[in-house]
Amino acid sequence: MVKIIYIEPSGRDVELQVPEGWSLMEGAFQNGVDGIEAECGGSCTCATCHVYIDERYLERLNPISPNEDEMLDCTASERRANSRLSCQVQVTEQLDGLVVTVPPTQF
Ligand code: FES
Repeated sequence: MVKIIYIEPSGRDVELQVPEGWSLMEGAFQNGVDGIEAECGGSCTCATCHVYIDERYLERLNPISPNEDEMLDCTASERRANSRLSCQVQVTEQLDGLVVTVPPTQF
């Protein structure tokens, strides 16, 4: 299990233990974290699972695929240098303690 801290749009922190191999989206969705809609269920076609990643961890993430990069241009909240689609980020032990900020809106 890997400790992930999600910050919901309201500012509330939710600390979870997420199994390795899950995506950040699955960890949030299975635990009712507010603000991650994940309308396409993780197939990288909706961009409603957009999150901002703690910048100290960016280099530990699996890289952005061309498809994710394209979808990141379609997010409702502004794309930033630390934007990712949470369905495309795999949870690994290197991410222990990661803080994931959910943007204000996904639509
Ligand atoms: S859940 Fe649709 S792009 Fe991530």
